[in-house]
Amino acid sequence: MSTAVRFHDQHVDETGPSFRDDVIAGLGRSPKALSPKYFYDERGSLLFESICRQPEYYLTRTEEGILAAAADDIAALVGPESLLVELGSGASHKVRLLLEAMRPSRYLGVDISRDFLLQSTRRLAADYPWLEVHAAWADFSARLRLPSGVEGRRVVAFFPGSSIGNFAPAEAEAFLGRLRQALPSGSGVLIGVDLVKDMAVLEAAYNDAAGVTAAFNLNLLERMRHELGVAVEPDHFRHFAFFNVPASRIEMHLVSQQRQAILLEGQRFAFEEGETLHTENSCKYSVAGFQALATRAGYRSRAVWCDSKALFSVHYLSSD
Ligand code: AVI
Repeated sequence: MSTAVRFHDQHVDETGPSFRDDVIAGLGRSPKALSPKYFYDERGSLLFESICRQPEYYLTRTEEGILAAAADDIAALVGPESLLVELGSGASHKVRLLLEAMRPSRYLGVDISRDFLLQSTRRLAADYPWLEVHAAWADFSARLRLPSGVEGRRVVAFFPGSSIGNFAPAEAEAFLGRLRQALPSGSGVLIGVDLVKDMAVLEAAYNDAAGVTAAFNLNLLERMRHELGVAVEPDHFRHFAFFNVPASRIEMHLVSQQRQAILLEGQRFAFEEGETLHTENSCKYSVAGFQALATRAGYRSRAVWCDSKALFSVHYLSSD
C-alpha cells in the first residue's frame, strides 16, 4: 500500500459470531431474520453504490446537496485543524464535499470492508496531498477505538447516509452513547438522518424500477450459497420492502415463493409459502425525534440542515 495512508488494523474481534453462526441462528429463529451488515460483500457493496444512483433513492443525492450547501457553516462550527473520522467510509465520496471548506489536518476512514477502505483512502490521499490520511479496518458498530497517533485538536465523527437508521432506535441511542465515550471532550458528530415522509416516496426508494434493491436483497442468498455452501435457490424468493407506519421504518424481507427448505451443513430450515426472512430495517425520524434520541445519548444538538422538501436532515451534535 501507498505510504501516504497510515493503516491501523483493528479487525481483531475474531471471537464474535461469524456469518455462518449468524445465518444458523437467524434461520432458526421465528420470525427468521439476519443482520443487514451481511449485505456488504464485494457484489453487495457495488450494488449498494448503484442503489445510491437510482432516481427513486433520494437519500444520497439529497444528503450530498445539503452537505455541499452547508459546508461553510459546518466548517465555521467545527473550526480548522480537526481530526475528521468517517464511520463506514465506503467510497468516501461525501467527505469530499467537506474537506476544502473544513480543512481538517487529519482524516481517519473506518470501515469493515478492508479492500474498499484501502482503495478509497488511497484515492483520498492522492487527491488531497495536504491531508494526513489514516485508515482503520474495524467494526465500529461493535467498538470504536481511535488509533494512537491520530489525536487531533478536535474530533468530528462523520456518519453519513442515514446508516444510523439501520439500528433500532434503542440500539442507535446505545451506539451514539458508546461513540460519545470514545471521543475526547469537545468533539462533535455530523450525522445524516433520513426523515419520515409520504409513504409512496419511501416505498419507491426501496423498490426501484431497475430492480437494483431487489438484487441487493437477493444477493444475501447468493452470498450464503457461495461462502457457506447453503443449498438455496434465490429464484424461489422475492424482494419485498414496505413502510411499517407504527415502527416508522422501511422493512426489507425475502419472501419464500413456495413451501421449501434450505440446507446448511445438514441442517434443514423450512419455509412456508409466503414466509419471510427479515433482512433490514431502515428507521425514519422527525427532526425533533432524532434530536430527542441524541439528547438521551448525552449530546447537545448544535445545528440541523434540511433540503427544501424536508426529505433528509444532517445534524451537528456536540459531545458535551
Ligand atoms: C446503508 N443504509 C443507510 C441503506 C438504507 O437506506 O437503509 C441501505 C439500503 N437498503 C436498501 N437500500 C439501501
